[in-house]
Amino acid sequence: MVWRGENLNKSYCSRTGAFTSKCHTVLSGVSFHVGDKEFVGLAGESGSGKTTLARIALRLEPAESGKLCLAGKSYADYQDRREFYRNIQMMFQHSSEALNPRWQVEQVLEEPLRYLTELSPEKRRERIREAMAAVSLPASLLRVRPATLSGGQAQRVCLARAIILQPNFIILDEPTSSLDMVIQYQILQLLRKLHQEQGISFLMISHDLGAIKQVADRIVFLHAGQIIENVATRQLNQVKHPVAKSLADAARL
Ligand SMILES: Nc1ncnc2c1ncn2[C@@H]1O[C@H](COP(=O)(O)OP(=O)(O)OP(=O)(O)O)[C@@H](O)[C@H]1O
Ligand SMILES: [Mg+2]
Repeated sequence: MVWRGENLNKSYCSRTGAFTSKCHTVLSGVSFHVGDKEFVGLAGESGSGKTTLARIALRLEPAESGKLCLAGKSYADYQDRREFYRNIQMMFQHSSEALNPRWQVEQVLEEPLRYLTELSPEKRRERIREAMAAVSLPASLLRVRPATLSGGQAQRVCLARAIILQPNFIILDEPTSSLDMVIQYQILQLLRKLHQEQGISFLMISHDLGAIKQVADRIVFLHAGQIIENVATRQLNQVKHPVAKSLADAARL
């Protein structure tokens, strides 16, 4: 198993007065795992808590309670930030915002290698070449700044950055939602290829069950901060919960 979350809870509180605050539960007793070399989809409507879960899994914010485990090790036992992020990487929806506009693509890809590995400059260049080839981008784009890239190219650069450290596990949050249908299809194919050829485990989050269905082996449904279904993709027609059922019906259209 590459990743596990157990009984995760999270709420956001805001002050309503000098001595009062109102809390809103976003995740409630969430437990599931992602197996080795597995491609899991996390589906749920807007506001169901998907991004919050991703942020917690990536240690971008803390859970209130619960246990998390990555590559056989509890999060609490990762003392070293570098070791943690060599195992888990991410790609979010708005790729153009995720890329530093002042940097050329080469710098974007070199940064994680520089900070998270001990590789020599020559080895770094080799890794950059390999990552560009893996996402089917020409080396000529290494000299380009993000503003010049198309949406699909920018998303490929973000994927190259995610795989460049050769992580076990990558979390994708709405990786294709801002792309048109053709580019979306190409990115999904690419994810599938990376999964099969490099053995990377993925958790792909999306409100678009149709996209998830094309790539995931198993689908977890989140609704109002709770897991309501956890099924193999080929058994999607057997979901019982009405919310999951209506999402599945809509994706069949
Ligand atoms: N930093 C925050 N402070 C307060 N509330 C937040 C914060 N982040 C998220 N929320 C709330 O938590 C709930 C879940 O948000 P989240 O972004 O995880 O949903 P989501 O499933 O990713 O939705 P979408 O499909 O629209 O991306 C929402 O009600 C949101 O308003
Ligand atoms: Mg979200």
